[in-house]
Amino acid sequence: MCGIVGYVGESQAAPILLEGLSKLEYRGYDSAGMAVYDGEKIHVKKATGRLKVLSELTHDGTMLPGHVGIGHTRWATHGEPSDVNAHPHCNTDQTIAVVHNGIIENYLKLKNMLLEKGYRFISETDTEVLAQLLDYYYKGNPLEAITKVMHRVEGSYALGIIFSDYPDTVYSVRKDSPLIVGKGTDGNLIASDVPAVLKYTREVFFIQNEEIACLKKDAIEFYNVDGEPIQKESKMIEWDVNAAEKGGYEHFMLKEMYEQPKTVRDTLSPRIKDGKIEIEELGMTDEEIRAINRIHIVACGSAYHTGVTAKYVFEGMARIPVEVDLASEFRYRNPILDENDLVIIISQSGETADSLAALREAKSQEIKTLGIVNVIGSSIAREADKVMYTWAGPEIAVATTKAYSAQLIAQYLLAIKFAAARGRITDQEVEEYLGDLKKLPDQIELLLSNQTKIQKFANRYIAAKDVFFIGRGIDYAISMEGSLKLKEISYVHSEAYAAGELKHGTISLIEDGTLVVAVATQEDLYKKTVSNMVEVKTRGAFVMAVTNEGNIDIEKAADYVIYIPLTNKYFTNSLAIIPLQLFGYYVSVGKGCDVDKPRNLAKSVTVE
Ligand code: F6R
Repeated sequence: MCGIVGYVGESQAAPILLEGLSKLEYRGYDSAGMAVYDGEKIHVKKATGRLKVLSELTHDGTMLPGHVGIGHTRWATHGEPSDVNAHPHCNTDQTIAVVHNGIIENYLKLKNMLLEKGYRFISETDTEVLAQLLDYYYKGNPLEAITKVMHRVEGSYALGIIFSDYPDTVYSVRKDSPLIVGKGTDGNLIASDVPAVLKYTREVFFIQNEEIACLKKDAIEFYNVDGEPIQKESKMIEWDVNAAEKGGYEHFMLKEMYEQPKTVRDTLSPRIKDGKIEIEELGMTDEEIRAINRIHIVACGSAYHTGVTAKYVFEGMARIPVEVDLASEFRYRNPILDENDLVIIISQSGETADSLAALREAKSQEIKTLGIVNVIGSSIAREADKVMYTWAGPEIAVATTKAYSAQLIAQYLLAIKFAAARGRITDQEVEEYLGDLKKLPDQIELLLSNQTKIQKFANRYIAAKDVFFIGRGIDYAISMEGSLKLKEISYVHSEAYAAGELKHGTISLIEDGTLVVAVATQEDLYKKTVSNMVEVKTRGAFVMAVTNEGNIDIEKAADYVIYIPLTNKYFTNSLAIIPLQLFGYYVSVGKGCDVDKPRNLAKSVTVE
């Protein structure tokens, strides 16, 4: 996820680009850059770090004079954050400059084709491939070159492009990445999102997939993928700027919850090729996978909860013993590690101090390490032997939602791959698992559409003092995360218990009206969990159950039921967590808490 902007008009472009980028920094902030045509040639300035580094470097844009330009704020995907990997990227003689938001899936194939034709590359990015591919197809007609590129590339993109031969025009095109065009009074703009243009205009065009926009200072033309002109209607934006930065959502957390179907798809699909799982970044042969003796999953907070889930999946599917540790414990417990063990460190930020220390502990014992990380180029991503990225994009809300979902997907994929390599499952089973995984995004969307029902239920529990979450097996792991979501953002005390453990002490806390959330998605444990629900209900608890579609008889033991669509028993966390995230969110909203920045917490915990 990155942010792109472009401007052509009467004013100086660079200060307008910087202003637009400042409104898009939420989309990524590891580097930024601009390309401006000064009347003779295209000049590019880019810098690693926050936008203010680029502002300082260009003296607030005054060092890049010119009336046409494009800009970018980056969330690294291909290639670590660095000056050379920052956008814009150009063809070799710098007559074409490109900014890009998205991922070009077949960029390696295209790069090899261009290398054979004598093109040279200076960055590791997929975007430089686009710049060189445009050069390859450019024979004097930018529109023709752009449509040819659109026919060749696979993946997602929103592009801003300038050609020094056509210095009065910004070209732009999108597929599966957002793009809008703003019609200003002294010029026109492109951007990834509306807030970037609101200072200059409220009249915008929403660009649809495979549409091209050509902007001049006093005209905007639109074309389809075949280069034929099309008509588009503009819309007047009436929302306020702050809401727009959240894409119209009230909070980043809500926006990020709604991004989960996309996150799951993005983490999954690049790793499924011809019905097989390919995790190139794992760098392990089947023989090496077969040699794994034990897996240690080490993480903190929600990331740890995904590890607890994964233990059941790895052990159940691949029959590899798994130990799950809180990173803050692992590093001090003198863990017994074997040379054939694999240590998996899970972290959204890639900067959590305890997780980083645990990684270093494993490395100091020369054990193989794999990071499952969201932030490209972060410390854990750099230091782990291998890194598997979750493609969740920047997560702004302190309480994780979409990164959590992506971490689950990454671990499911590893478990299936390991199980297949060790001969524990057949090709047919792999196919069935992948079929179920592919359904998850739509199923998550369906659960999210049930939000009003959960909001109403949450409103009844705004005054709750204690809430208990119970479940067995994977349902216990889901309970842990559901409980954390509630307590961390709404400040309602809540605990998660293995359902069978309640009667060994905790059940004495249950009194009239205590809310107990029971998760019962594991069919083999279902009856046992229902018995535990009855135990608390008969002691006065109000029981909300989360279970699989079809388990109607649960209504005898529960006061309120949320059904999740059917999936494989190993993947139910990905669905059952959605109503629990929504529940925590709406209790927090109802109580008037600071949802995105709960008290005492930080997004990235870089202290022990
Ligand atoms: C809870 C939450 C935290 C993080 C934990 C680890 O919603 O976000 O519990 O999961 O602090 O952070 P990362 O994944 O960045 O290592």
